[in-house]
Amino acid sequence: MENMKKFSVVIAGGGSTYTPGIVMMLLDNLDRFPLRKLKLYDNDEQRQAVLGEALDIVLKEKAPDIEYTFTTNPEEAFTDVDFCFAHIRTGKYEMREKDEKIPLKYGVVGQETCGPGGIAYGMRSIGDMIEMIDLMEKYSPDCWMLNYSNPAAIVAEACRVLRPNSKVLNICDMPVGTLRRMSHIIGKEPKDLEVRYFGLNHFGWWTSVKDKEGNEYLPQIRDYVAENGYLTQKEVDTQHMDASWQETHKKAKDLLAVDPRFLPNTYLKYYLYPDYVVEHSNPSYSRANEVIDGREKTVFSTAKAIVEKGTAEGSEFEMGAHATFVVDLARAIAFNTHERMLLIVENNGAIANFDDDAMVEVPCIVGTDGPEPLSQGKIPEFQRALMYQQVTVEKLVVQAYIEGSYQKLWQALTLSKTVSSAKVAKDLLDDLIEANKGYWPELK
Ligand code: NAD
Ligand code: LMR
Repeated sequence: MENMKKFSVVIAGGGSTYTPGIVMMLLDNLDRFPLRKLKLYDNDEQRQAVLGEALDIVLKEKAPDIEYTFTTNPEEAFTDVDFCFAHIRTGKYEMREKDEKIPLKYGVVGQETCGPGGIAYGMRSIGDMIEMIDLMEKYSPDCWMLNYSNPAAIVAEACRVLRPNSKVLNICDMPVGTLRRMSHIIGKEPKDLEVRYFGLNHFGWWTSVKDKEGNEYLPQIRDYVAENGYLTQKEVDTQHMDASWQETHKKAKDLLAVDPRFLPNTYLKYYLYPDYVVEHSNPSYSRANEVIDGREKTVFSTAKAIVEKGTAEGSEFEMGAHATFVVDLARAIAFNTHERMLLIVENNGAIANFDDDAMVEVPCIVGTDGPEPLSQGKIPEFQRALMYQQVTVEKLVVQAYIEGSYQKLWQALTLSKTVSSAKVAKDLLDDLIEANKGYWPELK
């Protein structure tokens, strides 16, 4: 520890509800990933200040040696940093709510990352993400961005097209959370297990779950999921716990039934059972409302209590234990650990019978030079066709953004498996354009 290199980290989206959990997790992992500097960066000064001031107190009490600041000044944020952990939300919950509620008006899935909501959020996020990558490269050319801002699939495709040589790694916590459930089901720890997986972000399947000795657990997990989905008796996943998430874990049972060979990613429910999802959605109270009334309230009231009392004693932030994967990823790059992790990367043959230039989610070995995707062989035609449809939606969105093309965005919405017709797609698009004024480029 004494001689271990220490790192400077900026958390972009400093005002995110996830920031305190990430900071607490970083403080808990200082022996594995020592810090010399920690900065928060956001473009909403007021929102960030609430968390920033509370964390100032936490840092002074727990780790006074770490130089800590929070800022809205890009130069200050991005100068002298080794890693940028990015979790921004362009348009915040106000726009998330629209992403979820506008599609529901048309009887279409309203979700943060899947279907029209994800497309709308993608159109808002690309510009901000690219701007942030440019800032990082301007002030700290050697810095790596570990991005988990959503919608990760569209953001990753935009990075591939617009900043192909940038040091940006796109990662999602859903497979991490589900693996934690799987390991609980078979009485193991996530670190005991190695998986094979193929798909796109929020759109994939596990084909193997083995322990380090090579014993295969997929059949045992499958038997459990066929009965219960990924719902476990004990609360093993600290993040995906709200009522709507319990429902989603349970629904994996019906996803499995469509192809019992593989274990499905929970987000497939929006594509395979959109009618069920719409029927079970409340058009006047969506996930955004659940988060505003739940996670956001808890995190911000804890922050205010800490600031009022001038100490974190008695009102601690909850640690984002699920987020240790971010440290694993940073460590893999910093210390060349060759950790095996699922990342969103350019396919280039990892899935043998899928397009080279598709951004796919597959296991990778991660070291100092970044990720090396592991070959997953050929995939069956059912999954391949679904993936091709979805990846084309994602590509059309990025093209629509770059070209300012109404036509391409209409095509993207029409192609989405969640949308029933070109007519619905067009009505929805016109509504989304109105709602996203000032966020989207002008479309012609
Ligand atoms: P949030 O609204 O609480 O926080 C987002 C913050 O980003 C806000 O403070 C906002 O002001 C800030 N922001 C927006 N645009 C910015 C910009 N251009 N520069 C700097 N800051 C900016 O949102 P949240 O619910 O905490 O989620 C944050 C992000 O993390 C979302 O994109 C969410 O989808 C994502 N997320 C990802 C995963 C994953 O594993 N991939 C899991 C959960 C959440
Ligand atoms: C969030 O946490 O808000 C999302 O990113 C995922 C979820 O829980 O809906």
